Amino acid sequence: MFSILVRSLLPRRWRVSARRPLPGAVVRRDGPAVALRTAARALFVSLAMLGVAPAADVGANRVGEVIYRRGITSAGTPLEATHATGVKMKGADAACINCHKRSGLGAKEGRSSIPPIAGRYLFHPRAHTQQDLDLPFVEGMRADREPYTDETLARAIRDGLNSDGSPLSDLMPHFALSDGDMSSLIDYLKRLDRRAVPGVTDSVLHFATIVTPDADPTKRRAVLDVIQQYFADKNAQPLGASPRLLSDRRVMFMVNRLWELHVWELSGPAATWETQLKERFAREPVLAVISGIGGRNWAPVHAFCESSAVPCLFPNVEVPVGDDHDFYSVYFSQGVLLEAQLLAGRIAGMKRGGRAPTVRQIYRAGDSGESAAQALTAALKKHGIVPSERALTAKDTPTTVAEAIRQAQVADALVLWLRPSDIAAMERLAAPPESTSVYMSGLLAEPEHSLLPARWRPSVRLTYLFDLPEKRWTRTNAAFRWFSIRKIPLVADRIQADTYLACGLLAETLSHMVDTFVPDYLLERVEEQLEHRIITGYYPRLSLAANQRFASKGGFLVRFADAKSTRLVADSDWIVP
Ligand code: HEC
Repeated sequence: MFSILVRSLLPRRWRVSARRPLPGAVVRRDGPAVALRTAARALFVSLAMLGVAPAADVGANRVGEVIYRRGITSAGTPLEATHATGVKMKGADAACINCHKRSGLGAKEGRSSIPPIAGRYLFHPRAHTQQDLDLPFVEGMRADREPYTDETLARAIRDGLNSDGSPLSDLMPHFALSDGDMSSLIDYLKRLDRRAVPGVTDSVLHFATIVTPDADPTKRRAVLDVIQQYFADKNAQPLGASPRLLSDRRVMFMVNRLWELHVWELSGPAATWETQLKERFAREPVLAVISGIGGRNWAPVHAFCESSAVPCLFPNVEVPVGDDHDFYSVYFSQGVLLEAQLLAGRIAGMKRGGRAPTVRQIYRAGDSGESAAQALTAALKKHGIVPSERALTAKDTPTTVAEAIRQAQVADALVLWLRPSDIAAMERLAAPPESTSVYMSGLLAEPEHSLLPARWRPSVRLTYLFDLPEKRWTRTNAAFRWFSIRKIPLVADRIQADTYLACGLLAETLSHMVDTFVPDYLLERVEEQLEHRIITGYYPRLSLAANQRFASKGGFLVRFADAKSTRLVADSDWIVP
């Protein structure tokens, strides 16, 4: 375990200085109409954040949670709401989570802000200014009104009147709820966000990065080099950079904390990883898991993040798990599973004189390609195409690998889920028949460093989940300059750039959260942050709507510009399957 922490720095200071705009004061041209971030954006922080109450008794009452998150009442019927315009809303569409978010801390939507409704924000005593409010700052928090009681809260939810009896804005629907459901919902609001926040002390924020034993050793080093350097740099920055923020009306304090990185290296069989992680987490609580690297099996890590409610941000994995219904893990893309979808579309569209194309796939048993091949088979079956598969095992030598490819190249579509070491074996092969389309995984084959023999290049199409090199250059340039200045050896360019991007996203998100360290809120802010992000590294665009967990959703099919070079050119538009 490595701990990166520059301890010689002053541990804790509330500083007074610096008027500067907040980072991210830019809106993408194609971004949603979310408000401009400027220095005028008010930030206010309570220093009493750490005194949050102990973990609530979750599970005792799920009724409130189900109403809040899914819009289903205790009777199993859809929650019903009426909007001021008379429009009726029902079920999941009417659920509180849509507007007030999972954390209950609200959000900013365009010009209007949706207030926090986690209990402590509803029941706090009247404060005349937000500075008087002894609560962590979130946008939209309301200070100058009476504290709610259970009765006035029920009235707000049913009739849209606030605690003072004034009407709430039209945006807040009126809900029809039975008394029993109302009291369950109110109980739930009281419990929301009252978890003790792990990994946050008044001088340090703790993070982990997770490495599984099946991760490629070179890439593992490459990722750790970047992330450890990032933390060292972060802590070396003078802590005075952003302490007191001035806005037009308010003065807010922000505590600069050091970042401490815990490297959680897993060992032994995958069946033990989740337990290992839970033990580590109990010993070394962290606010979030950042980046990290896995091999084919990331499922136990994903399960840990979901079950322990730890945000796990942008790990380097080829086979991400889960679906958009999970919450705590977010990935840059769906990896080889997305590649399989892209290929399924292309292959299903192949015209072979009215008959379905024949497809053969080759992969290494136990490698990410195996999951990819399964996904492609499943997707093609929907089109009535049944591929045949060949799994290479440890017994296969370059000669038998080449032979397997030679035999399979009789198919209309030959799909190779292979890495450079196996691709090198193709040196032994003549060019494939002209009628054969050869497809390869860009993630596994790493075409820029391709060992593919020149005579194969004209026949090969690759899936490519990134923007094309000349297009992404301006977005990756800063990362590569940073590596070079810090003498970080470049051994896995894209993975290192992704790791740098993940760290940058975390830093930027935290700077916007000020001191409101609530795990669910961290993820909500990451979602929001991505919408404004221009520096998206290898990806043309990143976005995470509330129910999306894969930030980049498409890819290209590419080919080599010519037989002699490894330059890639687009063979399709950007496709979002
Ligand atoms: C369509 C979006 C939307 C949904 C769905 C929604 N709200 Fe609201 N809610 C708002 C907005 C916007 C406001 C702020 C209104 C204002 O500015 O006066 C608000 C205000 C409130 C307030 C008053 C907060 C305060 O500080 O005075 C409460 C309480 C509240 N909502 C509870 C709920 C509950 C509980 C649910 C689910 C049963 C819910 N809301 C669903 C948009 C929504």
